[in-house]
Amino acid sequence: MSGAGNFHVAIIMDGNGRWAQLRGLPRSAGHVQGAKTVRRIVEASARAGIGTLTLYAFSSDNWGRPGQEVDSLLRLLQCYLAGETRRCARNGVRINVIGRRDRLPSSLVRSIEHSEALTEHCTRMQLRIAVDYSSKHSILEAARRASCNQLSAQEFQDLLAQVDHSVAESGPVDLLIRTGGEQRLSDFLLWDCAYAELYFTDRLWPDFGEAELDAALEDFASRQRRFGKVLAETA
Ligand code: IPE
Ligand code: IPE
Ligand code: MG
Repeated sequence: MSGAGNFHVAIIMDGNGRWAQLRGLPRSAGHVQGAKTVRRIVEASARAGIGTLTLYAFSSDNWGRPGQEVDSLLRLLQCYLAGETRRCARNGVRINVIGRRDRLPSSLVRSIEHSEALTEHCTRMQLRIAVDYSSKHSILEAARRASCNQLSAQEFQDLLAQVDHSVAESGPVDLLIRTGGEQRLSDFLLWDCAYAELYFTDRLWPDFGEAELDAALEDFASRQRRFGKVLAETA
């Protein structure tokens, strides 16, 4: 893996509901199991030398799910922050929740601020959790803030980061992983994934583990990234 310190992996953690349905359990049981996978993968990612890990936990479109499921997802997130922040701080993992905050319960916003403050000094890995996140909304909001100013791509990106409550430079996504078999972006990091390598696996998120993460990283290592150029030896 080149430039491990800045290496950015994003994951669309999909398949919790199907995992539960396959076992005759309520969808919320899949989310509980999915949260356990998050713990494992955060630690495995830090060990693998990933610089930034961005996890898609709750999309703005997920508000359209039944109220009970939405509540269980937001409660799980709050539990995750309450249970894992100290461990993250000890392991050098900086937490940053990206996305809108104006529609989240105020107790959750307080937990987010608390977790971010407690891990502010951490530099080993940045863990970004996308909650009430919509790329299209972020891009539109940044464009509104830019109004008629002639902005550079970097300045626009800085505005996007501001809209998303992103606290530190995360750089573009190098590798985007989606579990659960679907092959789409579902409004996730559209700007940041401009040159991301995409990796799709049928594995459902609760069944995803360190071995699958390693397989994705290995697959990434075999990709040839050209960024629109031609390779020196063929030029
Ligand atoms: C991903 O699992 C978690 C969230 C979207 C919050 P899903 O709940 O989408 O699981 P499936 O896709 O229905 O199996
Ligand atoms: C994307 O999964 C959102 C998260 C993983 C948080 P969805 O299950 O909501 O996406 P679609 O509906 O299959 O596109
Ligand atoms: Mg899904």
